[in-house]
Amino acid sequence: MQLNGKTVVITGASSGIGKAVALEMARRGARLFLAARRLDLLESVAAECRAVGVSCTAVATDVSRREDCIRLLETAGVVDVLINNAGFAIFDAIADAKPEELVSMMQTNYFGAVWCAQAALPGMLARKSGTIVNVASITGIMGFARMGGYCATKSAMLAFSEALRDEVLGRGVRVAMVCPATTDTAFFEKAERGKMPGASRLILAIRPERVARAVCNAAEDGAYRRILPFTANLYMRLKEIAPRTAHFFMRRVSAWLE
Ligand SMILES: NC(=O)c1ccc[n+]([C@@H]2O[C@H](COP(=O)([O-])OP(=O)(O)OC[C@H]3O[C@@H](n4cnc5c(N)ncnc54)[C@H](OP(=O)(O)O)[C@@H]3O)[C@@H](O)[C@H]2O)c1
Repeated sequence: MQLNGKTVVITGASSGIGKAVALEMARRGARLFLAARRLDLLESVAAECRAVGVSCTAVATDVSRREDCIRLLETAGVVDVLINNAGFAIFDAIADAKPEELVSMMQTNYFGAVWCAQAALPGMLARKSGTIVNVASITGIMGFARMGGYCATKSAMLAFSEALRDEVLGRGVRVAMVCPATTDTAFFEKAERGKMPGASRLILAIRPERVARAVCNAAEDGAYRRILPFTANLYMRLKEIAPRTAHFFMRRVSAWLE
């Protein structure tokens, strides 16, 4: 599918990966609806997209609120592509994690994607056309110490994506997953709060623009799952084949980084 002229909704577009996806989508000619809570930042991303020559609307949205997700998809109208990208992390050991923060991560990262998908699906299925791209993470494939609450949200997102992909197979709707490793965004400011400075160096951070190209390519080809960068892809394959070996090496790396 060519993105030129297609209507694309992107959640979490005020910063980082979502902002980079918005700009890459604009370069590919898509008509955009951008969602996040910080409307001032979102408006400035929308202005950058319009400067590329496409139509772009900012919609203040808290994806943890189902009614906001429904309103976002209603505002966009006929949606060709939904990018579920909004998300955040607060890293803590399970024993120390605050219950309200564990719930809040799940409400945003997992349920936010579910509410948006549910709002988009009836129209996509009726038209027998549409693509949903879920921005998950390698932490959805492998549990990392002191990130358990966040890993669980991404694991839930991947399981939900796989199930939905099978449910809509042959009905014109495609579901794709993108799983980036450490990406150089503001994400870690909130996630680590200075407590785990090693985490962001775990695998050399990649640029959000690189993730954005993978997300846009996934929207075009609807491929099952992209893991990036290449080294993370190899490591995640090792994890799926030999999980105990992969965890052994990761524990060594984590200990070395502390
Ligand atoms: N950075 C990494 O290493 C990495 C790796 C793998 C996957 N990811 C995933 O990539 C996605 C984007 O993260 P990022 O690295 O680009 O971080 P970021 O720069 O902090 O951006 C996060 C985005 O999510 C939005 N958001 C957070 N809570 C929201 C809510 N309740 N409702 C609507 N929007 C919300 C934020 O907008 P507002 O605050 O304005 O609402 C912001 O636009 C996340 O799902 C993250 O889990 C990140």
